[in-house]
This record gives sequence, structure tokens and C-alpha cells, in this order.
Amino acid sequence: MFKLNTLVLIGGSGTNLQYMIDGCDNGFLDIEIQAVISHNPEAYGLVRAEQAQIPALTVDHRAFKNRAEFESQLARVIGTFEPDLIVLAGFMRILSAEFIHPYLGKIINIHPSRLPDYPGLNTHKKVLEAKNKIHGATVHYVTSQLDGGPIIAQTTIDVEENDTESSLKAKVQLTEYDLYPKVIQWFAEHRLHLDNNVVYFDEQPLPQTGIQLNNETAN
Ligand code: GRF
Repeated sequence: MFKLNTLVLIGGSGTNLQYMIDGCDNGFLDIEIQAVISHNPEAYGLVRAEQAQIPALTVDHRAFKNRAEFESQLARVIGTFEPDLIVLAGFMRILSAEFIHPYLGKIINIHPSRLPDYPGLNTHKKVLEAKNKIHGATVHYVTSQLDGGPIIAQTTIDVEENDTESSLKAKVQLTEYDLYPKVIQWFAEHRLHLDNNVVYFDEQPLPQTGIQLNNETAN
């Protein structure tokens, strides 16, 4: 069975990574996680990778004198794997246009808001401050625009009166664990591609907000 060669780039606890590992084990995901690369040596996701016998590598951003040097080492490490797909999952470094360019169309990220609303940090706080009634997560292609690349798919949750930043974080993350493996499996099945900044799913262009999960079109 063909498996999509995939690298997962992390920086933290790696709960999304864990769902990918589990998805490989239970046969939902037809990908080979070639390695996990963290920019943070303390990331618990590295332990998760080791426990799953996946090469766990660190390119510590603090060990380089500037972003260009960090990125050139990261690109060297990535280059040794020749991945089909690069999955950012809690990777907390801004990547330059020069770095991203060779991977355009095969590098994706998950973000805890319904983009284009709330790029950047503190998304749950911003949703509460704006008194929004809905919130969610987005998977998008990575471009040089921070959290601004073409959207593949989004989830939606209701924001309740008594929600807090931490309750929203937990609710949004639960939807991420469903969303990210689904999108990654679509890549494995060659159902997604990017052309001229437009996302195509089964050869059909998607609207700018991507596929909305949690509705009938989601499966
Ligand atoms: C996720 O919530 C994702 O939206 C954001 O970073 C978080 C990563 O969490 N980009 P984890 O490391 O997968 O637990």
C-alpha cells in the first residue's frame, strides 16, 4: 500500500501529533511519518514520537543567531527526507517566504480560529472579547502570509455564555483531532491540490473558507 511520506513539525505538547500516530496505527491514515522535527528541545511531542519509534529530531531555534540560519538548517534536515507533505502542528516559528517557497502546495498548518478571523496568538481571548457566538479551527496551506494561506477546511463550535479561554481551547482542540487527520488523509488520497492560490478538492475549486466540517458536506 502506498503511503504518503510525511514530516510533522512541532514545538509543544504534540496532542495533534498523537492523533496522527494513532491514525497510522489504526489504519485511518495512509501516511508514513518519516520523522518529527521540533524547534523546541523540551517539546513533549518528541517523547510521543520516540514512544512510537519515529525519529525525533530537534532544530533548536535558539541555537542559531538569526532566522535565516535556523531555516537553512531546518531545510537541510527536511531535505534529507524528501517528504511529500509537511505538517505543522504547534510549530511556533514564523517561516520566511524563501523557506516556504520550495514546499508551496505541500506544507500545511492548523490554527485555532476560523481564519481569516484571528490570525496570530491568543485566538480564544479575542473570540471572547469580540463576543463571537462561534469559533473553531482551520487547516490551511502555508504561505509567507502568517496564518493567511488558502484555507482547506474548518470546524465550528458554539461559544457558550460560561466559556473561558481554557474551555474554548479544549473544545477547539477536540475538533482539531478530527479535522487534521481527515485533511491529511485527503492528501494521502491525492484529493487536494493548490493551484494559483486556489484549493482544489476532487478537482473542484473550494470557496475561500474551504470545506466546512460539522455539516453534511464534511465526510
Ligand atoms: C494546536 O491547538 C494548534 O491549533 C496550534 O497549536 C496547538 C498545538 O497543540 N497551532 P499540540 O502541540 O498539538 O498539542
